[in-house]
Amino acid sequence: MKTSRRSFIRSASAIGALAALPGWACSQGTSPKTLNILVLGGTGFIGPHEINYALSRGHKVTMFNRGKTAPERFPNVENLIGDRDDQLDALKGRDWDAVIDNSGFYPRHVRLSAELLHGHVGKYVFVSSISAYGEGLKLDDDEFTAAYAVMDDPTDESDSIYGRTYGPRKALCEQEVSKVFGGDAINVRPGIITGTGDPTERLRHWLRRMVAGNEILVPGQDDLPVQYIDAADLCGWMVRLLEDGNGSGPYNAVGAEKPYRARPLLEGLIASTGSESTLTWVDWEWLRANNTETANYGPWYGEGPTPFMQVTNKRAMAAGLRFRPIGDTANDMIAELDSFGEPRWGPGGFSLETEAALLAKWHAK
Ligand SMILES: NC(=O)c1ccc[n+]([C@@H]2O[C@H](COP(=O)([O-])OP(=O)(O)OC[C@H]3O[C@@H](n4cnc5c(N)ncnc54)[C@H](OP(=O)(O)O)[C@@H]3O)[C@@H](O)[C@H]2O)c1
Repeated sequence: MKTSRRSFIRSASAIGALAALPGWACSQGTSPKTLNILVLGGTGFIGPHEINYALSRGHKVTMFNRGKTAPERFPNVENLIGDRDDQLDALKGRDWDAVIDNSGFYPRHVRLSAELLHGHVGKYVFVSSISAYGEGLKLDDDEFTAAYAVMDDPTDESDSIYGRTYGPRKALCEQEVSKVFGGDAINVRPGIITGTGDPTERLRHWLRRMVAGNEILVPGQDDLPVQYIDAADLCGWMVRLLEDGNGSGPYNAVGAEKPYRARPLLEGLIASTGSESTLTWVDWEWLRANNTETANYGPWYGEGPTPFMQVTNKRAMAAGLRFRPIGDTANDMIAELDSFGEPRWGPGGFSLETEAALLAKWHAK
């Protein structure tokens, strides 16, 4: 290893952006009170983080899924089978202290579950997204000043769950929960979630390259702001918010304490993973002119900094949201690097062949 983990964490603290916070509340210990928690969508990416954390804190968990995604995942957790699309019978006549809704993408589905569960659960945590904000989002906006994204026909369900109207639908879903639950509605708005089990390559792409020790092509500006949150931090915090009982309203749940900047983030990850990789920054204009392969570089894709990667998390931090060092997230993800098939939303960058050809051309120019 070029840099030890300890020295990475020290240097990360020095640059601030990657630092662990003092007093970071880790997931150890049991909760002073035991809760019965219903998790809508327990077997995908973030559901298991919520369930594992809740169980480790001594809570009782029930899941509600269609039974399509990893149905064998939690053999010892009660699994109610149904569908958000009006097949909610399995939820009838039951009571829980709180619900965490991971699988709400259409306002009608969320209205149905909120109306059915009202009076039978205390708090309704809806996992929304910063995509619920409109394109007019500004740097100094917070949860209460930012305007919602809107769609022409709020009843239109023709789009796929993560399609073009994902953001405005999340905004409408939030409003459904707030209408029914009032002050007991908690609308959590994450940005890019990563960590173990992340089905996308939005962070893993860099880790794959770093593990291979390649020269890495990085598109765009090296001071690009980037926000990633580890699902473990997000999900642990949501459960603690329920334990605390005082959570209410909207929270931007983005990490880290301050937005990362692309270069220190990637250099820090190279150090923390002990990689021999070097970084070569290439501007998008040149890449577009010299290549036809489309690549989903996540936050790196685009023309430059956007308020969507610099969203304030002050309110969530005041309510206890804390972040582990992203070097730890990276090493946990590297430990499971080979266990992923087709990534959600495609590769996280150019293919290795295209990347090598582009780097050669860039160096030769
Ligand atoms: N990943 C990110 O960066 C990010 C950022 C912001 C917000 N979010 C939000 O985070 C939430 C969770 O995302 P995720 O990646 O964990 O989701 P996921 O991996 O797709 O998991 C979805 C879960 O919901 C269940 N489910 C899906 N459709 C259902 C239906 N019609 N009826 C009942 N259960 C259903 C699935 O099980 P079955 O298939 O067995 O039904 C599965 O357990 C989403 O609301 C997403 O919008 C994610």
